[in-house]
This record gives sequence, structure tokens and C-alpha cells, in this order.
Amino acid sequence: MNIILLGPPGAGKGTQARILIEERGMVQLSTGDMLRAAQASGSELGRKVKDIMARGDLVTDEIVIGLIAEQLESGAAEKGVIFDGFPRTLPQADALGELLDAKGLKLDRVIEMRVDDDELIARVTGRFTCGACGEVYHDVTKRPKVEGVCDKCGAKDSFVRRADDNEESMRKRLFNYYRDTSPLIGYYYAKGLLRTVNGLGAIEEVAAEIRKALDE
Ligand code: AP5
Repeated sequence: MNIILLGPPGAGKGTQARILIEERGMVQLSTGDMLRAAQASGSELGRKVKDIMARGDLVTDEIVIGLIAEQLESGAAEKGVIFDGFPRTLPQADALGELLDAKGLKLDRVIEMRVDDDELIARVTGRFTCGACGEVYHDVTKRPKVEGVCDKCGAKDSFVRRADDNEESMRKRLFNYYRDTSPLIGYYYAKGLLRTVNGLGAIEEVAAEIRKALDE
């Protein structure tokens, strides 16, 4: 299956993608993760997008479409892909359709995750991740079992916080979501691919709703 997790920043896309990877062996293609990896590597692309991302603005369609095309070219779609944070604009959605067509692949479901804005801000401002394995945590709702140690990989004192996880950037990211990304809800509804889940429940409750939407 090839699916999109569609939702505002902090909706839980990354958290649910990690559950789907474990349960179904799918591959996650997160343009946000790819762009952060480019920054960490000190590449020209990373330098180019650093300030744009920290402000909460979108990088150009050309850049992210290129990143996804590269991944699909290298065979990432063989096991079924979770597109996380891509597409985010109508031109990106059109480009994804064309890239999949060219490979004889199709999109099976688009899962829209709905969460209200106050909760999104609380989630994002409390988020931290393991710098070693990427496991996602939260100051209040998901703390590691042993302070300072990642539950998943055991790395010590390797937690990191994102430069754009502050209230000012988050408000910008939400604005961009409603302006540029939310039209994709109607776009995929019209194609018969959209399923909407309530992203406000506990992580496992949301996972159960997504399982149902994928298996129906
Ligand atoms: P990206 O990395 O894609 O960030 P985002 O869309 O803003 O989404 P997040 O990663 O913030 O949230 P999430 O939904 O994955 O939530 P998570 O599971 O972590 O993009 C970053 C930037 O890159 C963009 O602003 C842009 O500049 C650029 N970019 C990327 N892709 C682009 C594109 N296609 N086009 C142009 N620019 C692009 O959960 C959040 C927190 O909530 C965690 O702490 C988690 O533990 C907690 N949580 C999760 N689920 C629950 C739950 N059910 N209950 C309680 N807490 C929960």
C-alpha cells in the first residue's frame, strides 16, 4: 500500500508512521526528515533551507519534489510507502501522481488526521526526539521510562528539540497548512482516497482508527 498521512504540524504523522513501519514494514518518506538530514550534513541544500524551516515557511515545490523523485527512483516504494509531510501543496500533489504513474504505482489511501489548534501548539512546543533513532517524545504525554534514556534504542542524553518547535514558528506553520495544504483534503476526497481520523485520542486509539481506515 502507498499512503499519505495528511495533517497539520503536530497532528501525529511521524508518531503514527513509526507504528506503521513496525506493524507493516512500510517505508516512511518524510520530506521534513530529509531536509533536517541535509542540514545536519552541512550540505548546500541544508544551508539553503535552514532559515526557511526555522521560520516555519515552506521550502520550494521544486526542492521537495526532487527529494521524493530521488527516493522513488532508488526503489523506496517496493515495500509500500508512507508519505509524511508530502505533498503539502497542489503542485506537489500533481507531481506525486505523475511520479507514481510513471512507475506504474498508485496511491491507496490518504489519511487525514484532525486535531484542534490549541492541542497542536501544546504538542509541538513539548516535543523532543531521540537524536540517535528518531523516536518521538513529549514533555507531558510521552516521557521516556528512564529519564535521559531513549526507550527505543537506549541512547543516553541524545534528545534534541527542533528549531521550529516554538510558538511563533508554529503559528506560521499552521497558517501555511490552512492556506497551502488543506486544499489537498478536497483534492483527495474527489479522488475517493480520503479517510479522516480523529487525531485527538491517545496515540494507540489513533493507531487503531488508522488500521481500520487502511484495512476496510
Ligand atoms: P515536517 O517535519 O514535515 O513537520 P510538520 O508537518 O510541521 O509536522 P511535525 O513533524 O511537526 O508533526 P507530526 O504530525 O509528525 O507530529 P509528531 O508525530 O511528531 O516539516 C518541517 C518543515 O520542513 C516545514 O515547516 C517546511 O519548512 C519543510 N517541509 C517539509 N516538507 C515540506 C514540503 N512537502 N513542502 C515544503 N516544505 C516542506 O507529534 C508531535 C508531538 O505530539 C510529539 O511530541 C508526540 O509525542 C505528540 N503526540 C503525537 N500523537 C499524539 C497523541 N495522539 N496524543 C498526544 N500526543 C501526541
